[in-house]
Amino acid sequence: MMKIGFIGSGTVGTALAVLLSRQGYRVVAVASRSRAPAERLAGAINSCRVMTSQEVANTADLIFITTPDDAIGSVVSQVKWPSGCSVVHCSGADSTDILEPARKSGAMVGGFHPFQTFASVKQAIENIPGSTFALEALEPLLTTLKDMATALGGRWIELKAADKVAYHAAAVFASNYLVTLVKMSTDLWQTFNIPTDQATRALLPLIKGTLHNIETIGIPKCLTGPIARGDSGTIKKHLSALSKKTPQLLPPYRLLGLQTIPVALAKGKINQQLADELEAVLKQSE
Ligand SMILES: NC(=O)c1ccc[n+]([C@@H]2O[C@H](COP(=O)([O-])OP(=O)(O)OC[C@H]3O[C@@H](n4cnc5c(N)ncnc54)[C@H](OP(=O)(O)O)[C@@H]3O)[C@@H](O)[C@H]2O)c1
Repeated sequence: MMKIGFIGSGTVGTALAVLLSRQGYRVVAVASRSRAPAERLAGAINSCRVMTSQEVANTADLIFITTPDDAIGSVVSQVKWPSGCSVVHCSGADSTDILEPARKSGAMVGGFHPFQTFASVKQAIENIPGSTFALEALEPLLTTLKDMATALGGRWIELKAADKVAYHAAAVFASNYLVTLVKMSTDLWQTFNIPTDQATRALLPLIKGTLHNIETIGIPKCLTGPIARGDSGTIKKHLSALSKKTPQLLPPYRLLGLQTIPVALAKGKINQQLADELEAVLKQSE
């Protein structure tokens, strides 16, 4: 049976190693910069041993490099890769081009990126099942990675190297900027003296309700609010209040509003005339 090794025993490396071994994969070797996290990973898996990066490469058939993105290049060029092994990273932004030194040594190279956010090992173990993995590899490694994604309870898509950066920017919109949007909302609540933690508690049911609607009704039908209704009078009031209270939120409000108009049009509740009106309001200066 294929032997799997990990270089980098942080959040993603540890969660993948634990989940793969639970699914019957043979995780046998781990190396990391610090000894303690590597020992924690090895301790969680029967017959997994802590080694140097080179020893992991010599021992395993498939090696995941799960270091931070910026360390992948130095790890891959420092190790002497046995011909015929597979070297896979989990970066969302980098393509397999970064693994070129391994490919030149005769290794197969791949990308295995979970489209998910992981703040801790525990949360990663909980959230990997159900996530989509972006796979970049040639056969036969591609089939191995598809099988792994499925065994982890996930889905997969194939991605070309040239599409990797756009794919990663999509994750920034859906995850990182969602955090920013919530922060912008809580900033507005502070203008009427509700502290951030109380505001966040109040906003969460709204956010969860919106996510539920996206999941169950889908875009564009789930869109509600003044743009979906064509209420340009309400938008004017928002713009006026924002310019007085939080002028820094005016540019993102306008930009997001303009991006929302086509969604409202697609939903079919506003016509082109109302869309043009909304656009003019959102574009007009103070
Ligand atoms: N976290 C996420 O939400 C997420 C989601 C999808 C994909 N990813 C990808 O998964 C990969 C790992 O991310 P992560 O969040 O798991 O990072 P992480 O928690 O920071 O873990 C990185 C691990 O790599 C080790 N390391 C650093 N430099 C090293 C080196 N030169 N040689 C060997 N080990 C080294 C670190 O050691 P120390 O313990 O000494 O620091 C740490 O154990 C990245 O490519 C990231 O883009 C992350």
